[in-house]
Amino acid sequence: MNWITALARPEIQALQPYQHASWEPGLVRLHANELPWRAPLDASAAGLNRYPEPHPRALAARLATLYGLEAASVLPCRGSDEAIDLLTRAYCRDGRDAVLITPPTFGMYSLAARIQGATVIEVQLRRETGFSLELSALLAALTPAVRLVYLCSPNNPTGNAFDRATLLELARALSGRALLVVDEAYVEFSGEPSLSAELGAHPGVVVLRTLSKAYALAGARCGVLLAHPDIVALLQRVIPPYAITQLSIEAVFRTLQADNLALVRERMRALSRERERLAAELARRPGVLRVWPSAANFLLVEFADAGLALARAHAAGLLVRDLRRAPGLGEALRISVGIREENDRLLASLS
Ligand SMILES: Cc1ncc(COP(=O)(O)O)c(C=O)c1O
Repeated sequence: MNWITALARPEIQALQPYQHASWEPGLVRLHANELPWRAPLDASAAGLNRYPEPHPRALAARLATLYGLEAASVLPCRGSDEAIDLLTRAYCRDGRDAVLITPPTFGMYSLAARIQGATVIEVQLRRETGFSLELSALLAALTPAVRLVYLCSPNNPTGNAFDRATLLELARALSGRALLVVDEAYVEFSGEPSLSAELGAHPGVVVLRTLSKAYALAGARCGVLLAHPDIVALLQRVIPPYAITQLSIEAVFRTLQADNLALVRERMRALSRERERLAAELARRPGVLRVWPSAANFLLVEFADAGLALARAHAAGLLVRDLRRAPGLGEALRISVGIREENDRLLASLS
């Protein structure tokens, strides 16, 4: 057995997949206890009275084309949140295994681990180094219990992308010991290539992508796990059948039509321009101490009094993210880049 699957919980390695109703779209479905009529006003293409494809192969194939991989390396999930949940449940034994994370970072890695009863080892990203990766600190914190090392690049909430050469060095160092899970939820905003091009050379690397951000489909809940086919096959035993709703499948296909993809690229450029304008304007506002450079669609901003800035934004009808309790950030807020008028309203509220 390959080390990338031998690391998984023995129960998952031995698990027999659920035998779902067979998927033969050309035939009349009298095998899944569905209602033969559509619900009133059901405008979906396939009919919501029918179950969607249990493990949607056409969707995986479409996403594989989008990301330039084989379909066997692609697992569509209910958001990348579900991918994190699946990895944790498949790889971490309650009370024995651990995940390694680098706070301040996205909260779901540690939440999923705690729900599973896994230990969370933290290696703090430091302000002084611009929240960059410190390889020696990561390797020093690694124990034999660690199954998953999560890195978010660009990182939420600090906005910086990690150095590719350092990520690959880490992948080499982790080979045979733990999976390196690189969450690229915001990579489209960075203009940098995905690490998924390296999956062939690094079977222990798992890349998480999502349609929630650049593709404007947060409400459709579609994330994508990209990994060696053996990891995908293992997780396919854990993901429930019919995880992706028919509405989501149809929304993804519509969104990924060629003319829409051109719009996505144009929006990425527009968003970067607006991000830079907002960053420059924020830096001129009284009480703003620092605006961190961002490769994502949000800004990490430090204030003299973040509570006051939060209250002013709220009074102007705007929600921004309070990070005062995030480790190592102090008086900081995370601000998503909106459309120009929204950003101007925020700027006015802070003037
Ligand atoms: C870094 C990161 N990963 C994953 C997610 C979750 O994405 P999804 O909507 O695909 O579940 C988010 C959402 O904000 C995020 O910031």
